[in-house]
Amino acid sequence: MQELAGQVAMVTGGSRGIGLAISRALADAGARVAVIGQDATRAATAAAALPGSGHAGYACNVADPAGVQATTAQIEKDLGEIAILVNNAGITRDNLLVRLRDQDWDDVLGVNLKGAFNTIRAVAKGMMRRRAGSILNVTSVVGITGNPGQANYSAAKAGLIGLTKSVARELAPRGIRCNAIAPGYIETDMTAGLNEEQTRGIREKVALGRLGQPEDVAAVARFLVGPGAGYITGQVLVVDGGMVL
Ligand SMILES: NC(=O)c1ccc[n+]([C@@H]2O[C@H](COP(=O)([O-])OP(=O)(O)OC[C@H]3O[C@@H](n4cnc5c(N)ncnc54)[C@H](O)[C@@H]3O)[C@@H](O)[C@H]2O)c1
Repeated sequence: MQELAGQVAMVTGGSRGIGLAISRALADAGARVAVIGQDATRAATAAAALPGSGHAGYACNVADPAGVQATTAQIEKDLGEIAILVNNAGITRDNLLVRLRDQDWDDVLGVNLKGAFNTIRAVAKGMMRRRAGSILNVTSVVGITGNPGQANYSAAKAGLIGLTKSVARELAPRGIRCNAIAPGYIETDMTAGLNEEQTRGIREKVALGRLGQPEDVAAVARFLVGPGAGYITGQVLVVDGGMVL
């Protein structure tokens, strides 16, 4: 028995990297996945390659509240009521604090933090009416520890942890859970710019001695949105190979 059979899951940034691995894991568990990406073709291609059937791809900028409302309405029309929301879309615009431009701050906060608010607000009403739902926010270890050169990104990811806990408290009486995953360094396009020396430096800090793979995060996401985590809400689960022990 697949534990997410019959459920619709919306995964933002689901067409590559960690989001694609999460989309695959949820599809493997029986969910019908709405893959949200910035590009319609890439989202549709990713959705078509997922295991099982009933998946679809959508282009949507999560930072745009009206676009998010329209997209969630379309998903519910096409696939059915959204039972699972994974806020994975994220960007970086790294720079030292004094060199950060207003745009770098606004863009990163807009996608990583406001994007999650936009999607949660859009799906919450339906979940509340049905008295069921599971929300998962992909934050980062740097939202806990901070990181030089990532003031904007760390602030957004820390904000996402506050959002997770508030949503968990507010929606728990309606049977809705909200948790977060904080990955460490995961090998994706986002971290592809690191040079060999930087990669070695990170590996030395990771207790398990290797960088993470998207599948390491996806397995935990599958657990957290599923029935096995039915008594877990408001938590931040660090998936970093023991880097910030
Ligand atoms: N890779 C890591 O080491 C790492 C570590 C901690 C946290 N994270 C977080 O994990 C998540 C996924 O990261 P990744 O490494 O797979 O990165 P990635 O760059 O490979 O993927 C990010 C995805 O988000 C989508 N996206 C970006 N802006 C968007 C927007 N405005 N609207 C809709 N979609 C948008 C992109 O299209 C892409 O599919 C991000 O939230 C990231 O901050 C990554």
